[in-house]
Amino acid sequence: MNPMLLARASRAQVMRPATLLVRHSSVWSAVKAGPPDPILGVTEAFKRDQDPRKINLGVGAYRDGNGKPYVLPSVREADKRVLEAQYDKEYLPITGLAEFDKLAAKLAYGENSAPLKENRIAMTQSISGTGALRIAGEFLARHYAYSKTVYLPTPTWGNHIPIFKDSGLEVKQYAYYDKNTVGLDFEGMLRDLREAPEQSIVLLHACAHNPTGVDPTQEQWKKISEVVKEKKHFPLFDMAYQGFASGDTDRDAFAVRHFVEQGHEIALCQSFAKNMGLYGERCGLFSLVTADEDVRARVDSQLKITVRPLYSNPPVHGARIAATILGDAQLYQQWLGEVKGMADRIGSMRTSLKDLLVNEYGSKRNWDHITNQIGMFAFLGITPEQVAELVNKYHIYLTSNGRISVAGITESNIRHLAESLHKVTSA
Ligand SMILES: Cc1ncc(COP(=O)(O)O)c(C=O)c1O
Repeated sequence: MNPMLLARASRAQVMRPATLLVRHSSVWSAVKAGPPDPILGVTEAFKRDQDPRKINLGVGAYRDGNGKPYVLPSVREADKRVLEAQYDKEYLPITGLAEFDKLAAKLAYGENSAPLKENRIAMTQSISGTGALRIAGEFLARHYAYSKTVYLPTPTWGNHIPIFKDSGLEVKQYAYYDKNTVGLDFEGMLRDLREAPEQSIVLLHACAHNPTGVDPTQEQWKKISEVVKEKKHFPLFDMAYQGFASGDTDRDAFAVRHFVEQGHEIALCQSFAKNMGLYGERCGLFSLVTADEDVRARVDSQLKITVRPLYSNPPVHGARIAATILGDAQLYQQWLGEVKGMADRIGSMRTSLKDLLVNEYGSKRNWDHITNQIGMFAFLGITPEQVAELVNKYHIYLTSNGRISVAGITESNIRHLAESLHKVTSA
């Protein structure tokens, strides 16, 4: 550089405030601000709202009849037992607490499951359902030789797409939701599964589909299993809501167990966030059904190799709580009752909401989908403009696709919700 220019440049630098210098020279100056998370962003907006009538129906977490976070009594009791046991804080093995893994698999596959009895299910504890899905993505990207494309339902839980993309898989979608019936587009789903190249990876929500609350019937699941078999697709189940759909953990595991009985070698992602309310404890399981014990042992060894560089080993406390509940006959029965209690409260809020809309506020729209849908979420079938009106005018917070968490409805906010929903849909 010309010495005169150099001198001028260094004089200018000396005169610049130090903070500016630091800011301008950041290694990260080129990083662009990303969009806020669509679901967590709803909660942020809710927190900023000062209106006393405000309702948060965005977040997928159960609330009790008073709208408060709920710690299940069975979880409180297990927590107490775990603390009293004064365990050390040593690392778990890479694949987690063995006792938890076994009991969680039994809950999903059923105690009479042939592959479980024959010791041919590979498994690892995971960082809740999200972590299980990420292990699934990593493992399939490395070891599933037949396809690198995963098919997801339209719509699906928003996080599925980045989870699988970040794992190196290509993401495509199959038809699932019919906006005209606010129900399942069963024919479209079968058509797309038939049209996908053979041996594709197909993600299926085992129960309580998020965000629509629309599940196939047991007869429809049987047909889906046939088509998946015909096309030799690889079924990857996401079961984040076992027990939350029907209130019965066995019934909600129907699709998973049926596929296994039909001889599919499935992969399964489980979460204990919702059904045990262990959200922040990050407790889940990833498992893969294999043909025999020898393959299972090899897959297990590769699961360890997949997990080790990701997070080394999983958190211990939630797994101890879940294992305490699942491993104690009395506590287990108590927990089943509490899961049913949560599902029943959600069911009764669905019935009351529809009843208020139709009978009290005189809505002429068909709201049957509110009670036909299942699980934590209801897909209202309303437009983004109607959603915006609910948020801006009535202080009711939900995602822009018209999904509400029914778990956020209580006796004290349901009238405001029904009346507002009626107003925005009858204009
Ligand atoms: C369909 C689905 N899968 C997986 C998850 C994962 O949840 P977590 O990581 O909290 O277990 C969720 C949570 O909302 C979900 O809705």
